[in-house]
Amino acid sequence: MSKRPDGRKVDEMRDIEAKVGVIEEADGSAMFRIGNTIAVAGVYGPKKVVPRHLEDPEKAILKCYYDMYSFSVPERKRPGPDRRSIELSMVIKNALAPAIFLKEYPKTQIEVFVSIIQADAGTRCAAISAAAMALADAGIAMKDMVAAVAAGHVNGEVVIDLNKEEEDIEGTSDIPMAYMPRTKKITLLQLDGKLPNDKLKAVMELGTKSCEAVYEVEKKALKEKYTPAESE
Ligand code: CDP
Repeated sequence: MSKRPDGRKVDEMRDIEAKVGVIEEADGSAMFRIGNTIAVAGVYGPKKVVPRHLEDPEKAILKCYYDMYSFSVPERKRPGPDRRSIELSMVIKNALAPAIFLKEYPKTQIEVFVSIIQADAGTRCAAISAAAMALADAGIAMKDMVAAVAAGHVNGEVVIDLNKEEEDIEGTSDIPMAYMPRTKKITLLQLDGKLPNDKLKAVMELGTKSCEAVYEVEKKALKEKYTPAESE
């Protein structure tokens, strides 16, 4: 079995760290780090819709904003929204919406802001995992959590959680995936590059298995905040 650039096994994710409650002023917040990719999410709401005529009498409006800091990448990124961040904001919203009981909060909006403070590939997935924990931290009613990680096909092998160095290898394909672990539903599946048909099953299996592992990290981080410390 060929070694990956950073020496990981094909089914091995990078080191993961998660923390819930990292922004004092937000209704809910979380940090999710996978290798050198770090996402921080803040949730505000449910709150009044401004302007009011945009409110939905049936359900809450979910708004997501993905932002990559200028200093998060080796080549300084121009600050502010661009085509990529607008697309990723939509992708993240679509990955989170199925997990939220939006009908519990008619005529309101829930705002999710995710900042990538350091990027080494896999930022949309890190953003989704951070945002899902922040939504739970905000006390928003959810039918499930959402956990995300990118699978891929590098040098003829199905691998999990590509870093930037692997993403840049000629012929690599990147397959970001988001998954609701309780209902076992996929809420994001993208393919950047080409994937041989006979590899799809292995990609899906490795992707969902790894999302389940990310879910365990999310649960642990939530419990760390909400389980009262044992009194002595
Ligand atoms: O981050 P993700 O894999 O979800 O999305 P991507 O658009 O495929 O970007 C892959 C990686 O390219 C990012 O995670 C960054 O490491 C890098 N990138 C960069 O260096 N400069 C940019 N302006 C955009 C992305």
